[in-house]
Amino acid sequence: MTASVIGLSGSPKSASRSRALLELALAALERQGAGPSRLIDLARLPADALLGRREDREVADALQGVLDAGIVVVSTPIYRATYSGLLKVFFDLLPQDALARKVAIPIATGGGSAHLLAVDHGLRPLLASVGALVVSTGVYGTDAQFRAAVPDADLVERIERAALEAAFTTNIHTGSHRSSPSSTPEARRTGGCTPSITGSIRAAVLSTIWCSIG
Ligand SMILES: Cc1cc2nc3c(=O)[nH]c(=O)nc-3n(C[C@H](O)[C@H](O)[C@H](O)COP(=O)(O)O)c2cc1C
Repeated sequence: MTASVIGLSGSPKSASRSRALLELALAALERQGAGPSRLIDLARLPADALLGRREDREVADALQGVLDAGIVVVSTPIYRATYSGLLKVFFDLLPQDALARKVAIPIATGGGSAHLLAVDHGLRPLLASVGALVVSTGVYGTDAQFRAAVPDADLVERIERAALEAAFTTNIHTGSHRSSPSSTPEARRTGGCTPSITGSIRAAVLSTIWCSIG
């Protein structure tokens, strides 16, 4: 199955807080018009194949799903101050630059706030190591921010913001936010690939990056 958005859940648990945030992110992206999404529970994949001891159709399909997607959302519990080993073994199977020209959203939950920076010091470099452009808003939730498995409003708002950034960045890349080719001489010359001076500085910078590598 090909999906524009793929979500990878790195929690070994079936009732998972980080997975709950992942589901919210995928729903937010669909509302933003990012296209159909698919969620992969890495814990359901065969462990020996994840460890590279044998080939497996399900694992190959999950890896292909990542390669086919435009947006990759990754969620993980914090284990020993960083992302889960389950997420790591899956990423070890990805080809180099597997996430090049893709936008990624990092999501993590931890027992407390002590390992909040694991999103920036662990998850973000993991995604960047395979070429992803990671949105500036990372999502980190503590267990105390959940009531009966439902995240609080601050967490939901952060997910919405990350989803908006991912959808916007992807739109710049695919051209949905390009100015009309006939609107300005510069736009006609560049095929509409000109950074907007009315948008945020970050949007203009992102637009410039995408246009220069597109
Ligand atoms: C083996 C293990 C190690 C953990 N290590 C940490 C840790 O270093 N820092 C932290 O904040 N929470 C730690 N936790 C707590 C989990 O990260 C936290 O409960 C998280 O929300 C679980 O996410 P999940 O429900 O998606 O599995 C650990 C939990 C387990 C089981």
